[in-house]
Amino acid sequence: MKVDVLLGLQWGDEGKGKIVDVFTPKYDIIARFQGGPNAGHTLEFNGQKHVLHTIPSGIFHAHTKNLIGNGVIIDPYIFEQEIEKLYANNIEPKKNLYISKKAHLILPTHRLLDAVYEQDKGGEKIGSTLKGIGPTYTDKVNRSGVRVGDILNENFKLKYNQKRENHFQIAKAYNFDLNNFKIDGKSFEEYEKIWLASLDTLKSMKLVDSEHFINTELKNGASVLAEGAQGTMLDIDFGSYPFVTSSNTIVSGVCSGLGIAPQKIGRVFGLFKAYCTRVGNGPFPTELHDQVGEELRKSGHEFGATTGRPRRCGWLDLPALKYAIMLNGVTDLIITKSDVLDDFETIQVCTEYNYGSQKMDYFPNEINDAKLEPVYQAVKGWKTSIVKVKKEEELPENLMDYIRFIEQQTEVPVSIVSVGPDRNQTIFRF
Ligand code: GDP
Ligand code: IMO
Ligand code: MG
Repeated sequence: MKVDVLLGLQWGDEGKGKIVDVFTPKYDIIARFQGGPNAGHTLEFNGQKHVLHTIPSGIFHAHTKNLIGNGVIIDPYIFEQEIEKLYANNIEPKKNLYISKKAHLILPTHRLLDAVYEQDKGGEKIGSTLKGIGPTYTDKVNRSGVRVGDILNENFKLKYNQKRENHFQIAKAYNFDLNNFKIDGKSFEEYEKIWLASLDTLKSMKLVDSEHFINTELKNGASVLAEGAQGTMLDIDFGSYPFVTSSNTIVSGVCSGLGIAPQKIGRVFGLFKAYCTRVGNGPFPTELHDQVGEELRKSGHEFGATTGRPRRCGWLDLPALKYAIMLNGVTDLIITKSDVLDDFETIQVCTEYNYGSQKMDYFPNEINDAKLEPVYQAVKGWKTSIVKVKKEEELPENLMDYIRFIEQQTEVPVSIVSVGPDRNQTIFRF
């Protein structure tokens, strides 16, 4: 069997958690391949909302295996909190959850260093979630990280203490005020204590050689869906660098983050919102600083699932979307949050950019340049609520025109239209 992939084509929060949950009954395994608890994936069903950070979004279906791959980074304490929440919701997460021994651990001092580096950047801050993502991936690439498999070794504490000391030296070299540093409102020592205690929960999970696990499952006929985190525009290589995350969020991350050979990749489902949002800093050509942006934020409840920060809002950016489709080899598009535009008289879509006297219909390296201006085409709104629509034929004609326009511009079919946050508010077009 092949590995299908579902990932975000914008700056994250496209609704990946919801759609993975909708897809889960079709797959035997759901696998996360990159990122860490910077992700916040929201699922809604039976009137309840659930937010996952590290655990794959297939966890609510009893018959599906869930895998946290080697490319993911894990904060044992955040992970433990997720596990506890699942138990509180009568979900038994241990039975179907597998974790790669090669996944790296986010140490409390990685979170310290995230704060140190962000402070040092001053006005050029990334707007990181401060979950320790950058410093943990840095240690991985520097060949000095700590992996899940290490917690099973006798010398773990020694390794931990060496890293801790080394990180503290870095913080001191930056003249960081360690006395006033807090993690999630707790003093460092307090946080470290609960972090170390949470290792027991991680140890009690199914820790596996995940590349063997997944390839054996595939050989035996299992179907796999790889669940992306963040979005293509936050990719370390192709995103709006340096305002990106520290992993490959694109389809290539599936190969390195799970141990899957490229020819095993099947369909690639690319998610995008009917408009655009971004949390944190960095370029966003179609951002709206006016009342319209405010309306999008209000009607889309655009506040971060991980940090609660208000998301920046703007119109759909087709050059950026086409770029993301190219990088990922997207076979199917999924449009989410179309219902958020229900009350808009007119919707604007960016079809190209003006860059000085030049016109650009692609996503250029000069994306950080303030000279880059979006060129819009107006589309008529549908001015009717679609949240109760169950079939494609019932969707308003103006929304179908919007969808057909996107399909014509991107040359990829829109296979699913999401019309609300609930599992059931999903319209299949295939
Ligand atoms: P993810 O990180 O890609 O999983 O997305 P988030 O969960 O961070 O953010 C998406 C938000 O939009 C969540 O609150 C979802 O419940 C919600 N959502 C998903 N799809 C839709 C949709 O089609 N319409 C509306 N109104 N909300 C949606
Ligand atoms: P999901 O999976 C939206 C953003 C942060 C910041 C930048 C770097 O829910 O779509 P990091 O913590 O990785 O150092 O932050 O990336 N960011 C996200 N934005 N959704 C996410 O994940 C994100 N994960 C990171 O806001 O701008
Ligand atoms: Mg999110």
